[in-house]
Amino acid sequence: MSKDGAISALRGRLLWFVDDPHAIGEAAHRYVEDGLLVIEGGLIKAAGEASELLPTLPAGAPITDHRPHLIMPGFIDAHIHMPQTQVVASYGAQLMEWLNKYTFVEEQKLAQQGHAEKLSAFLLDELLASGTTTAAVYCSVHKQSADAFFAESHRRNTRMIAGKVMMDRNAPPALTDTAESGYADSKELIARWHGKGRQLYAITPRFVVTSTPEQMAASQRLVAEHPDCFVQTHINENRAEIAFARELYPDAADYAGIYEDYGLLGKKSLLGHCIHMTKREWRAFAEAGAVAVFCPTSNLFLGSGLFDWQRARHESVKVAVATDIGGGTSYSMLRTMAEAYKILQLQGQSLSAFDALHAITLGNAAALGLDHLIGSFEPGREADVVVLDPAATRAMAHRLETVRDLAEELFVLVTLGDERNVVSTYVAGERLSHCSTN
Ligand code: GUN
Ligand code: ZN
Repeated sequence: MSKDGAISALRGRLLWFVDDPHAIGEAAHRYVEDGLLVIEGGLIKAAGEASELLPTLPAGAPITDHRPHLIMPGFIDAHIHMPQTQVVASYGAQLMEWLNKYTFVEEQKLAQQGHAEKLSAFLLDELLASGTTTAAVYCSVHKQSADAFFAESHRRNTRMIAGKVMMDRNAPPALTDTAESGYADSKELIARWHGKGRQLYAITPRFVVTSTPEQMAASQRLVAEHPDCFVQTHINENRAEIAFARELYPDAADYAGIYEDYGLLGKKSLLGHCIHMTKREWRAFAEAGAVAVFCPTSNLFLGSGLFDWQRARHESVKVAVATDIGGGTSYSMLRTMAEAYKILQLQGQSLSAFDALHAITLGNAAALGLDHLIGSFEPGREADVVVLDPAATRAMAHRLETVRDLAEELFVLVTLGDERNVVSTYVAGERLSHCSTN
């Protein structure tokens, strides 16, 4: 539609954020009841009143009328595991047992020819059907799993962050690399994929439990040599995990101190979970500009604990939100935020619908340092778009009969919504055909 530079437009109820509603309230969002989103060459050209923008379109420019649906920037998922799409909903274990009993078993299958391709295609289909257009993705230890994921994402022109997991101990032999091979494979993948089209690389030591000091040092070398790549890993998710980590690195100040000691705590570091954090660890995150990634459905499902968002704010630590499939139980960022709301409720904290929708669009884009590219409808941003029908289910249509304003309607969407509400997803201005109702 728009790759060639031709102009097109989407008409509907536009909603996007220009700032953080938790900080500045209603002034943080833009809502246009009868809006037009003008797209040129895969980028946002303008967003505003249809009455003002329609006359500016060239004659014959295609207009897709999505009224009365909501049109928002595509959702962003800051932490998800491609090899775990068939681990989701595995019964009864907390983190370490869950890894050994289910996850490491499934991840070994990615050595088989074609399996990573199959799971990558499935994951991208499922993300896009859920309105998610960008994700930070863990592949498996196998180099070809990252090649498969990037190739599939590149083919679809989606903006994805991904990396080959590095793990050289405390895992089945078939799932381990070595400090040298993990370094060399990551380096090769960075050269092949980082910055190719819309693909971005994340250096991915799984967590300190599965990396020797030699592998942590090799990760440090990768970060020093490729400072524009992301780093993604896990921290402070589960008490038994923390005890194991401290045993393996007895000289570190604490869990965060291990990553600090190897230069892995920086502005581009995305650290999953951050549930059981000490005061010093929050400070270390704030000083480094590292991102705490909140994974609500996973934290509940694995019984890991309650993320303290208020504390993160108080400590000036950046927060991103994520599904963490397959510890997590839903691909939908709407469903994810419904569970985030409940986790915060249990701690006497609040999360408005505006907070939640900001978090999964501009909030995550800013936490990832990608807000100049994605996450809003400011001119020049990439035209990744989700079209939502808040009345898509019987129960939601019924409930919406009684809402009085936009905030109430959006709260119903966040609380009851999921992939069934996604009418269409656009990637760089291109409409995809596989969503629920289009
Ligand atoms: N910690 C290390 N690996 C994993 C993983 O795959 N999932 C979760 N939830 N935590 C981890
Ligand atoms: Zn994870």
